[in-house]
Amino acid sequence: MTGTQQQDMPALFDTSVPHIARVYNYWLGGKDHFAADRELAERFIAADPEVLAGVRANRAFLARAVHFLAAQARIRQFLDIGTGIPTVDNTHEVAQGVAPDSRIVYVDNDPIVLAHARALLTSDPDGATDYIDADLRNTGTILAQAARTLDFGRPVAVMLMGILQCIPDEDDPRAIVAALMDGVPPGSYLAISHPASDVHAEARAGAALLNEGLATPVTFRTRAAVARFFDGLELVRPGLVSVSQWRSGMGADTRPLANWAGVARKT
Ligand SMILES: C[S@@+](CC[C@H](N)C(=O)[O-])C[C@H]1O[C@@H](n2cnc3c(N)ncnc32)[C@H](O)[C@@H]1O
Repeated sequence: MTGTQQQDMPALFDTSVPHIARVYNYWLGGKDHFAADRELAERFIAADPEVLAGVRANRAFLARAVHFLAAQARIRQFLDIGTGIPTVDNTHEVAQGVAPDSRIVYVDNDPIVLAHARALLTSDPDGATDYIDADLRNTGTILAQAARTLDFGRPVAVMLMGILQCIPDEDDPRAIVAALMDGVPPGSYLAISHPASDVHAEARAGAALLNEGLATPVTFRTRAAVARFFDGLELVRPGLVSVSQWRSGMGADTRPLANWAGVARKT
């Protein structure tokens, strides 16, 4: 972030406290972060250098999942919650690259993502994009406001990529996912990526560092815990796997990374 941009922003952001969206942006090689974000991101890298491969693989999974949903499942509506700061291959770019009439609603609760939302609203004229400034816990608000753009009588892909770790168990993330999936008709899909606590110990050490620094805590989860978010839905092949192993194609680096990923259909 440039000096001029930083001067414009202090009223909006507490830049002295690291935030997950900006730490993640730093790991991805973006430019939208402050000294406190960089310091925490670097401490995590020192504890778990694989985090960089993990976040790149997560973005690649997001693009493959959206491509699958648009091209093979023929989904034309996407509700992408926990959007993050815009980067390459944003959901609407991938979906509208397959089907220009795709409609995408983005949701995030971070003011820095809101400040960049214009970059997410560059829809193909045949489709539409919208942005909602809301917390994932407020599923009623999200579904009501998304209905401005999405037709909830037709299938919707609900995307929860790298966000459920921000919802602690005491806030019942399974009930939040269930409420969202109750709001969409059969034929809809749920796509999740989630940091893993049971792949390697370095990621657990990284999670502990995040919880010392971030304003809001994170909960990395086991494969079994992430699988429960898909209860009542039908996982598509290859099921719930490492992000690096979900339909990654010939020649891809498929060594397991500390991030679970899956896509499932509501029947
Ligand atoms: C790690 S980033 C993931 C970005 C993107 N989905 C991806 O996978 O590349 C997590 C995003 O979720 C947002 N987020 C975290 N907790 C949230 C909540 N309770 N409600 C809405 N957004 C939230 C953060 O602001 C951040 O932009």
